[in-house]
Amino acid sequence: MAFHSKLLLLLILLLFISHFKYSQSGGIATYWGQSNDSSEGTLAEACATGNYQFVNIGFLSIFGNNQAPMLNLAGHCDTRPESNTCGRFSADIDSCQSRGIKVLLSIGGAKGSYSLISPEDAKNVANYLWNNFLGGQSNSRPLGNAVLDGIDFDIEMGTGQFWDDLARALTGFNKKVYLSAAPQCVFPDGNLTTALQTGLFDYVWVQFYNNPCGYSGNFATVLDSWNNWITVPGKQIFLGIPASDDQGAAGSGYIQPDMLKSQVLPTISKSPKYGGVMLWDRTFDKTYSAAIKGSV
Ligand SMILES: *[C@@H]1O[C@H](CO)[C@@H](O)[C@H](O)[C@H]1NC(C)=O
Repeated sequence: MAFHSKLLLLLILLLFISHFKYSQSGGIATYWGQSNDSSEGTLAEACATGNYQFVNIGFLSIFGNNQAPMLNLAGHCDTRPESNTCGRFSADIDSCQSRGIKVLLSIGGAKGSYSLISPEDAKNVANYLWNNFLGGQSNSRPLGNAVLDGIDFDIEMGTGQFWDDLARALTGFNKKVYLSAAPQCVFPDGNLTTALQTGLFDYVWVQFYNNPCGYSGNFATVLDSWNNWITVPGKQIFLGIPASDDQGAAGSGYIQPDMLKSQVLPTISKSPKYGGVMLWDRTFDKTYSAAIKGSV
């Protein structure tokens, strides 16, 4: 073979390798549950868009500290035990999972009443979650018989204590329970530091909105914070951003899809821990996920 054709082959090989090394392979996560069927659509409809790899159902907003746990799905259904109408979402969960989408229950949120007061409290909450949403059994499962893939920690209040105990307890059952967390981008997040240090979290979707490290005209603030977050032991880190510039989605942090694709994704996707993008939330994601999914 002539020297120049060997060179050509080598060049083609290098292009081939670099394509795979730098082509993004992330996914999109979102939150569903804080609106109603007419403005947000059902869970099955969210999954049927084909735009998401992960859907967090939010939120279990009351639990721990000896309180009766309570799911809050806003206008979707009535979660009070005496009139529970949320079990109908079991079929939706099954249909999402049949598409290969992981469905997690998000515990916490910006509003609610939740805290853990001891390692025993954490263990009790883990047992409650296992029996009522995961592989265990209970005759009052709020979302029916569907078995969720895991638990998302969206802890936005309290002391930061005992969430590591909860993470350990949830991963001690006889079936894999995926764990994710949604820390604020201000690093480190006091509510979730000890939990994340366990190294048990599969996905960390960092909230780059309503925070000083979110985008507000300068991508350096976002990238500086990102570089801190990729040092935490979580397996995959996601950039969490508002799904719309509508102030109802978030007060700050919106990045236009074209800017995200040209100014942010090429840099953050170089990290081996890059997992993709999280969009808050399904209600406001009218066009965003469709606009970016080929580039995430
Ligand atoms: C928990 O999160 C809230 C909201 O971000 C914050 O105000 C609070 O200081 C955090 N608690 C700790 C212990 O970091």
